[in-house]
Amino acid sequence: MSTLLAADTRQPGQADFLPLYGTDYVEFYVGNAKQAAHYYKSAFGFQSLAYAGPETGVKDRVSYVVRQNKLTFVFTTALRTGHPVADHVYLHGDGVKVLALRVDDAAAAWHETTKRGGKSYMEPARLTDKYGEVGLSGIYTYGETVHLFVERDQYAGAFLPGFREWKTGYNPPSTGLRYVDHAVGNVGWNQMNPWVKFYEEVMGFRNILSFDDSDISTEYSALMSKVMSNGNGYVKFPINEPAEGKKKSQVEEYLEFYNGEGVQHVALATDDIVRTVTQLRDRGVEFLQVPPSYYKDLISRVGAIEEDISPLAELGILVDRDDEGYLLQIFSKPVEDRPTLFFEIIQRKGAKSFGKGNFKALFEAIEREQSARGNL
Ligand code: FE2
Repeated sequence: MSTLLAADTRQPGQADFLPLYGTDYVEFYVGNAKQAAHYYKSAFGFQSLAYAGPETGVKDRVSYVVRQNKLTFVFTTALRTGHPVADHVYLHGDGVKVLALRVDDAAAAWHETTKRGGKSYMEPARLTDKYGEVGLSGIYTYGETVHLFVERDQYAGAFLPGFREWKTGYNPPSTGLRYVDHAVGNVGWNQMNPWVKFYEEVMGFRNILSFDDSDISTEYSALMSKVMSNGNGYVKFPINEPAEGKKKSQVEEYLEFYNGEGVQHVALATDDIVRTVTQLRDRGVEFLQVPPSYYKDLISRVGAIEEDISPLAELGILVDRDDEGYLLQIFSKPVEDRPTLFFEIIQRKGAKSFGKGNFKALFEAIEREQSARGNL
């Protein structure tokens, strides 16, 4: 058995040098922020929240901010070529640039992480407007992805100073998405352990689960993964690297089309996955499908569950169980033309794991898609 739950290696009573209170927001650099925001409103049920651009004094870019419960997504586009945001989109396509984390002291977060070897992205700064003050700082993680540290307990505005409230008459209802459960990074060959070390040493995370290629391989594709968690468990970042298989790993396909390391998927939590996925599908979100045989012996595999099997089978929702309970999950197809970023929708019923029992069925579904793209 190659999966293991690691022990906490910190000394009893040792303070968490980087206290985190969850994901503050996820920022995507995209080719057309106006249209991306509309897609996340119409398809995923986000609401308009805030806007920054030339009208608010930001001359080189526009950003649209949308929110659903505790989920905040920001879509940013450069207004001219030769801009870092434009260069990012040219290289990577649409993708996640910022995984912003809530802290109570942005300057301390920056000092603690950079002194442990984190590479600075943004030195600590204080932003103010009539609604109060926000502290911001940031460091790089894998690829061109960054973590911003956001301190906003003294701020009452819509999003951040520099943004104005964005109100529109188009407000499609919520689909019940609540918060970021975890965000997964794809890194290059032999790069998983260096990034595990980064999260341990620079950010004080620990490795809570490991999967090797005997857990995560199908006939063709293989990968290895380690799940990193911060001290209170609010922030979980699994890290994947490709493993040798008969044909191209799904992680290699990602690395090729993203032109490097980056965020593979963001898992969004719901309290009612059948309702959420029904609505997402009705609004045009496409999901990976598993064969009907997956559901034939589901109860003998995972034990009794509260949900009826037929809607799960109809929607393609997967179920897995660990020592603490079970979880329901489903994966979208990539949400842009490159086979890069996708979303997971997850409902946890006690389980704290990541659906290892579904890897085979899931990866076979991914390979069918890879094969249809000619990338297997
Ligand atoms: Fe996941």
